[in-house]
Amino acid sequence: MSDREGISKLSAATLSVWGGEEDSLVQGATQVPVVYSAAYEYPDVDTWLDVTLGRRAGHIYSRNTNPTVQAFETKVRLLEGAPAATSFATGMAAISNTLFTLLSPGDRIVSVKDSYGGTNKLFLEFLPRFGIRVDLYDTADHERIEAAVAAGCKVVYLESPTNPTLKVVDISRIAAAGHGAGAVVVADNTFATPLNQNPLALGADLVIHSATKFLGGHADALGGVVCGDPEWVKRIFHFREITGAALDPMAAFLLIRGMKTLHLRVKQQNESALTIARWLQGHLAVASVFYPGLETHPHHDIARRQMRGYGGVLSFMLKGGFEAVKRVLPKLRLARRAANLGSVETIAGPPATTSHCECTAAEREAMGIPEGLIRYSVGIEDAGELMADLSQALKSA
Ligand SMILES: Cc1ncc(COP(=O)(O)O)c(C=O)c1O
Repeated sequence: MSDREGISKLSAATLSVWGGEEDSLVQGATQVPVVYSAAYEYPDVDTWLDVTLGRRAGHIYSRNTNPTVQAFETKVRLLEGAPAATSFATGMAAISNTLFTLLSPGDRIVSVKDSYGGTNKLFLEFLPRFGIRVDLYDTADHERIEAAVAAGCKVVYLESPTNPTLKVVDISRIAAAGHGAGAVVVADNTFATPLNQNPLALGADLVIHSATKFLGGHADALGGVVCGDPEWVKRIFHFREITGAALDPMAAFLLIRGMKTLHLRVKQQNESALTIARWLQGHLAVASVFYPGLETHPHHDIARRQMRGYGGVLSFMLKGGFEAVKRVLPKLRLARRAANLGSVETIAGPPATTSHCECTAAEREAMGIPEGLIRYSVGIEDAGELMADLSQALKSA
């Protein structure tokens, strides 16, 4: 879909609302229609062939392209300032399709130890089965990551802030190391959102989102997206055409609708998360708070440089460990106890049942994820009422 003249130069607030919506798919419709057609008909073979060969705009089959899905891709692409984007049924489909497109047997990928649990499983269980060498390093250890990258690799895969310990990677620094080694640099921007951070502007080649989280923002649709370098996006799109992990048009519609309020939600979530993180730091039951917006965060200076806001997710460790987590969580009245984040309602849970449920306790420990941790994804509720709720629940710690 072509941009209305100059639309890409508009602010993120305006793009959240108007991006991808400039070409009405149905005469006069003010909202992107949900196109539930598996295939598209052409009256003559020449036109059909032109569309098939990409000589003329149009759609052939919805596993490949779909108008509603394309509108979603355009909205995210514009928000990330990317030349190209392609979407997927889930965030994990986006990550796995990207990695399987970029990597071949004998290649090496360098990444961080505490990436999202599903990504970590892909690194440890699946990629090695295809003869791909995976080397994971401590997220905070920039020198070791740089040295590992300089030794030669095909892909550098970053996530910042990380899930669930909110570590921060200096994206520009590691992207420069990656390019020095001729690698493709990929960054998962799910936690930050395009409102708070744009990895492509920091030097990454590709940026990935689980759209299930903040982009959709209402915990009612799954989706994933990859944006960036057009050549790589084209190859990833082609791989997805064949693996078939396409985004459903109804999910695309829900994600588009959710994204119209992205800037308002993220602004509120940034503010509330910082307020709550500061308050939790002084709480007697809490051993430590992980949030990049805190001045005490070990990489607050990097976060300040590369982020415009610090996001809606924080985590905190209870002095009473996992037993205290089990006592506190059921007491929360204003939080869904669920394996999700980034929604309008607050969501809380321990890594063992959320981000790292696929991993064993020993694997979580190796990744530096404490069992006494609660991940707390701040919604758009009143921050004072959320703190009052936490306060009464923490009495059981
Ligand atoms: C940072 C991050 N990336 C990717 C994913 C995977 O996304 P999805 O659940 O949409 O497959 C998640 C899911 O929690 C995540 O937190």
